[in-house]
Amino acid sequence: MKIPMVDLKGQYESLKSEIDAAILQALGETRFILGPNVQAFDQEAAEYLGVDHAISCANGTDALHLALLAAGIGAGDEVITSAFTFIATAEAIRYVGATPVFVDIQPDSFNIDPQRVREAVTDRTRAILPVHLFGLPADMDEIQGIAEEFDLIVIEDCAQCFGAAYRGRTTGGIGHVGSFSFFPSKNLGCYGDGGMVTTNDAEIADRVKMYRNHGSSKQYHHDVIGFNSRLDELQAVILRIKMKHIGEYNRKRNAVARAYNEAFAGSRFQTPTIPEDRDHVFHQYTLRCDNRDATREAILASEVACAIYYPVPLHQQKAFADTAQPTLPITEATAERCLSLPIFPEMSEAQIETVVGAVLDS
Ligand SMILES: Cc1ncc(COP(=O)(O)O)c(C=O)c1O
Repeated sequence: MKIPMVDLKGQYESLKSEIDAAILQALGETRFILGPNVQAFDQEAAEYLGVDHAISCANGTDALHLALLAAGIGAGDEVITSAFTFIATAEAIRYVGATPVFVDIQPDSFNIDPQRVREAVTDRTRAILPVHLFGLPADMDEIQGIAEEFDLIVIEDCAQCFGAAYRGRTTGGIGHVGSFSFFPSKNLGCYGDGGMVTTNDAEIADRVKMYRNHGSSKQYHHDVIGFNSRLDELQAVILRIKMKHIGEYNRKRNAVARAYNEAFAGSRFQTPTIPEDRDHVFHQYTLRCDNRDATREAILASEVACAIYYPVPLHQQKAFADTAQPTLPITEATAERCLSLPIFPEMSEAQIETVVGAVLDS
């Protein structure tokens, strides 16, 4: 049985009649830019996440960029972040002219280590940008504590964690500002690109709204140089429908992850931790193992997909050759040992068993 990393087709089939009808209706209404579905989605997403403001935009990279700009981060500022993430996290820091300062992750999660964050604070540090990687919230109490002590802004990269929670608080509403991605394979994904900024700060929200729409708060009046970064109306239609199911989707992902953890207990694979004080949403299910590349080849040979997120940490990417090159032992070891398995809400027991068999036989 062939098993993909995600099954977008299966999910579309289950929602097809509702999505097709709603898209046809939006086509008929022809209000394509910042139309009624975008407005409704912004409101519904804010309600779902329990934040005062949710402002959708064109993609998750723009969401980070707009969040950093609206929080006032700019040239000369340092932003402490993880090197074990997708490049967009640190690209956006560069877009505003600031410098990413990469620190190591924890050995038992894939998230930034608060102790390393504390050690990296300098006179130029303005913000901490934790990524809730693979759907697991970072240690936000410790990060918020450091931010308060040194008067820093916290920007949460929530691209992989829609609906995750830390000690009862939904990610995206814990720091000053959060950014989300609706890339198709994300937990809440649309059928193209999409993103969103969240905040409880009304001034930041107003600035994000301006920046996403050519620096304008009133048509043809432009207060700042902004961008064209609006969520597409048709993507908003899809997101509104899929958001109604996100709780169930995240629960099903957890069930798959728990089945995997049970099956791999005592094996040569180090399984992901599921801390009791947070709601993990398992955007990825990622093992650590020795001989990772040979293991990957063996699993692929049995027609089960698997993937390496991320093979080259950001501090070792050519694009960041001009930043400080710290030694990050846990990040570097993790990049050599990590292996992500298929995980999606529609996975059947037979599919889970096939993946488990392929991994244990590898
Ligand atoms: C951690 C992280 N941050 C940011 C992004 C950027 O999102 P987008 O692809 O929607 O621009 C992604 C998407 O892959 C991501 O995984």
